[in-house]
Amino acid sequence: MRLEASNVSVRYGTQHAVVDVNLMAEPGEILAILGPNGSGKSTLLRTLAGVQRHAGRISWAGRQTDIGYMPQDTASRAVLTAFEVVLLGRMRSLGLRVAAGDLAAAEAAMTEIGIAALAHRRIGTLSGGQRQLVFIAQVLAGNPRALLLDEPTSALDIAHQLGVLALLRDISRKRGLTTIAVLHDLNAAARFADRLALLRDGRLVGLGRPADMLTAQYLAEVFDVDVAIDAGSDGHPVVLPLRAVGSDRFHSAGLH
Ligand SMILES: Nc1ncnc2c1ncn2[C@@H]1O[C@H](COP(=O)(O)OP(=O)(O)OP(=O)(O)O)[C@@H](O)[C@H]1O
Ligand SMILES: [Mg+2]
Repeated sequence: MRLEASNVSVRYGTQHAVVDVNLMAEPGEILAILGPNGSGKSTLLRTLAGVQRHAGRISWAGRQTDIGYMPQDTASRAVLTAFEVVLLGRMRSLGLRVAAGDLAAAEAAMTEIGIAALAHRRIGTLSGGQRQLVFIAQVLAGNPRALLLDEPTSALDIAHQLGVLALLRDISRKRGLTTIAVLHDLNAAARFADRLALLRDGRLVGLGRPADMLTAQYLAEVFDVDVAIDAGSDGHPVVLPLRAVGSDRFHSAGLH
C-alpha cells in the first residue's frame, strides 16, 4: 500500500513537533525512522496512521483499516488474556460474534511470533517484553497492508530483537507490506530497513539507504554523538558510539 506524505506538520499548542515532512514509501519496502528523544518520531508515525491532527497531505493507496499501527506505549492493565488482545486485532468494527476465521488468525499470529503458550495469561501479568510480543501479534492478526510500528523491539532481549525484526522483514517482503518502524538501535535499523529517515526537532534531515545515512557526519548532526563507522562483515555498516558531544542534549530531551 503506497504512501505519499507531503508537507506534513504537527503542532502541540505552540510547539512544532513535526515540521514540513515529505515522505514516500512503496509496498514491500521497509523504512526506519530514527532520531533523538522528543524529535517527533512517534508524532509522525501517529500522523501517518491517521490518528493525529496535522497540516499537509497524507495519502495511502488503500483503506484506513488496512493500516496496522502499534503505538509506543503498549502498557496495559486490561483484564484481557493475551489471546483476547491479539483477537482485538481482527475487530475492524465492534461486533458481538467472533468468526472462526478470526480465532484462527489470532492463533496463527501468536504462533508466528512464538507466544502461543501465553494465550491464556492475563495481559497485565506478562513481562514487558512478552506484552510487546502480544501487541506485535495483535497488529499482524489484522492482516494489514501497511505496518506502522513504534519501537516494536524496545523491550525485547537481543535474540527476540533479531528474531522479530527478521520475521517482520520477511512478512513485509512476502506480503508486500509497506512497513515503517521507529527504532533506536542504529545497527538493527541498518540491517532491517531499506531506507532510513533521520528526524531532528521535527524535521527530516536525511532520507536514504543505511550506508548513506549512517555516517559520522549525519549522526553528529542528528544525535550530537561522535561515532566510528565500521564496514560490517555482512555488508551493513556498523556504528560504534564513542562519546556524546554537546551535553545540553541530556538536559533538553523533548524540551528544545
Ligand atoms: N500529546 C502531546 N501534547 C503536547 N506535546 C506533545 C504531545 N505528544 C508529544 N509531545 C511533544 O512533542 C515532541 C515530540 O514528541 P514525540 O513523542 O513525537 O517524540 P519521539 O521522537 O517519539 O521521542 P521518543 O524517542 O522519546 O519516543 C516532544 O517534545 C513531546 O514532548
Ligand atoms: Mg516516541
